[in-house]
Amino acid sequence: MTDDNAPKISVRGLYKIFGDDPQTALQRVKDGMGKTELLAETNHVLGLNDINVDMPRGKTTVIMGLSGSGKSTLIRHLNRLIEPTAGEVLVDGDNILDYGDKALRDLRQHRMSMVFQKFALLPHRTVLENAGMAPAVDGKSKRQYADEATKWLDRVGLEGQGNQYPAQLSGGMQQRVGIARALTSNSDIMLMDEAFSALDPLIRTDMQNLLIDLQGELQKTVVFITHDLDEALKLADHLVILKDGFIVQQGEPQEILLNPNDPYIEDFVADINRARVLRVRSVMEETTEDPGEVAGEVDHDATLESVIAESGGDTTLRYRVMQDGRQVGVLHMRALVRALVPSGGAEGAALARAEA
Ligand SMILES: Nc1ncnc2c1ncn2[C@@H]1O[C@H](COP(=O)(O)OP(=O)(O)O)[C@@H](O)[C@H]1O
Ligand SMILES: [Mg+2]
Repeated sequence: MTDDNAPKISVRGLYKIFGDDPQTALQRVKDGMGKTELLAETNHVLGLNDINVDMPRGKTTVIMGLSGSGKSTLIRHLNRLIEPTAGEVLVDGDNILDYGDKALRDLRQHRMSMVFQKFALLPHRTVLENAGMAPAVDGKSKRQYADEATKWLDRVGLEGQGNQYPAQLSGGMQQRVGIARALTSNSDIMLMDEAFSALDPLIRTDMQNLLIDLQGELQKTVVFITHDLDEALKLADHLVILKDGFIVQQGEPQEILLNPNDPYIEDFVADINRARVLRVRSVMEETTEDPGEVAGEVDHDATLESVIAESGGDTTLRYRVMQDGRQVGVLHMRALVRALVPSGGAEGAALARAEA
């Protein structure tokens, strides 16, 4: 399939129930039984409950939720480390549940790579050999893969480290090897399960920035798992929020922040620094009409924080909003201020626009 707009990965009606008789338990779940009740009454664990997600090609989909919400269970279905109780997983339009051994091996070795929380490097192999694991599994010699592996080690900031052993590197550097290994495999899809969760905060920020830079260059289809909302909002093009095995809300992060559809999400986003996360495009009035007198121009993707700084806090101002050199909207400072208050949400912003 070559349609650029088709999702790279589609998860359809996916259920996973752990226990002796999942099919009987499935029927009870379909009849409305939740996770707690299912465990109490049938001793089955509801891992995933009717998951439907389209993961856009070349973008980052973040799956977020608290511990035990089903994140790892979901990502492990994408390469069939776990078999579902019901449902489909389509990759490039193929239902991978129909795959035989050969196609499945090809999927895991060439079409997807994984980056793990605990790095999963081989301790007795050098950094270069670890980075070159995928070609090595394909029978390539070190001489054959060295250039490619070195290229990616250099790209992730590990110039000259190829002959070291993993234990000689810090945690952050070991995870860079994990990323270089995924990139050397040359797969379109990268699965990252809490890949940065074990790292110290400053290192973690560096790694997030590295991933954002790499995505700007490479446009992999990334499936990134985290329990950290700040990380999720920073990395996600598409954000999926899981709770007790079901999806509470999914969409563009800005949209979720402005329009949480559930008290659970409202709680989750309540402590976020909205000025830092929200972008001009999410609170502007969309218009190409000449706005008359404005205080200046701002980029559609600028954070509200940067505009507040620019405005000096003057709430009477308006800005022309630009994208690629063209006007796409007008930003009213009053709408911006409204959007900073969670309860008002998008309605508040719309109201402020109407008043402005
Ligand atoms: N092999 C298993 N057997 C029984 N229950 C499991 C198994 N794997 C995961 N679970 C349960 O499924 C739920 C989701 O787990 P998991 O996907 O690991 O959550 P997360 O990655 O979000 O922390 C949890 O309640 C967990 O206890
Ligand atoms: Mg997990």
